[in-house]
Amino acid sequence: MIRLATIGTSTIAHDLVDAVGLVDGIEVVAVYSRDAAKGRAFADSIGVQAVFSDLAALLASPDIDAVYVASPNAIHEQQALAAVRAGKHVLVEKPAVTTADAWAALCREASEHGVVLIEGMRTAYDPGLDVIRELLGSLGTIRRVQLGYQKRSARYAAVLAGEQVNIFDPALAGGALRDLGVYPLHVLVNLFGEPTSLQAASVTVASGADGAGTLLCTYPGFVAEVLYSKITTSNLPSEIQGELGTLLIDHAAAPGLLTVELLDGTTSTHPLPPRPHVLSDEVERFVELVRTSGDATPDQALTATTLRLIDAALAV
Ligand SMILES: NC(=O)c1ccc[n+]([C@@H]2O[C@H](COP(=O)([O-])OP(=O)(O)OC[C@H]3O[C@@H](n4cnc5c(N)ncnc54)[C@H](OP(=O)(O)O)[C@@H]3O)[C@@H](O)[C@H]2O)c1
Repeated sequence: MIRLATIGTSTIAHDLVDAVGLVDGIEVVAVYSRDAAKGRAFADSIGVQAVFSDLAALLASPDIDAVYVASPNAIHEQQALAAVRAGKHVLVEKPAVTTADAWAALCREASEHGVVLIEGMRTAYDPGLDVIRELLGSLGTIRRVQLGYQKRSARYAAVLAGEQVNIFDPALAGGALRDLGVYPLHVLVNLFGEPTSLQAASVTVASGADGAGTLLCTYPGFVAEVLYSKITTSNLPSEIQGELGTLLIDHAAAPGLLTVELLDGTTSTHPLPPRPHVLSDEVERFVELVRTSGDATPDQALTATTLRLIDAALAV
């Protein structure tokens, strides 16, 4: 049994605990919060005894095998690095760290310490992606890909009111590309690999972070756009366009319905079975890697490519 500790006490940590409850071979045994009372309340809500407000003490505990890092993006690196150096396996929320170089260094450390390190990128482990991959074969030569995640955040109202909130705070590596754009970008990299070139444009909001933007990626023979926003909402599906037909994906980050419209007039729909929990597949992958001392290199490589592209986009 993998004994997991959580870092962070927000909704996503609750969600992860729920997902862990659905997966064999792993259990949550401890909670870390900077605030002991907050940690106690979170631990009580999930039925866990051990609460730490000193991360070093948590990482020194022989009763913990692994940690799940769900702090703001800019904090991931220091916490994940400390955990890896303490010999703990690490599942770190997306985006794993803030630069591709930091990720490479973290992966090296994980390898040296013999622990598993993967990013909690839910799209990476979504079985729907395999169905998308299969359907690509019917589209003919791919010419255009358009993947998006555009949803106005409830927290944007605070930005408009002049407040700084974590997810829009550049100092904490907030912003729309890292928060939502990372999902369709990771899907793009997962399906088609690294583009040969990238152009980027974005809108900066009052907090100083990007609120919306577009990445234009060039591949041999086709172009791909990644559309993302935390300040506006789109209800359009994502699309992969081939010379023989178009695949519509209702939600790039959580596909539920795939539709293939072919040039010959035929249309087929492919509803995807609901997942037990949107985070359970990544937890299963994590457990499998830890249990089998498996090779996380392919998972880490997808994260590395995605982070390289984010580095390039944010440098524009
Ligand atoms: N996979 C998904 O579907 C999904 C969904 C949402 C978010 N996420 C990811 O989850 C992570 C957390 O996002 P969030 O919106 O939940 O963040 P958040 O609410 O701003 O912070 C998460 C937790 O980190 C701690 N924290 C807050 N500010 C901190 C600071 N300045 N320094 C150190 N710790 C701090 C807090 O726990 P304590 O006060 O208890 O220490 C808080 O509960 C992000 O990386 C985000 O991208 C993933």
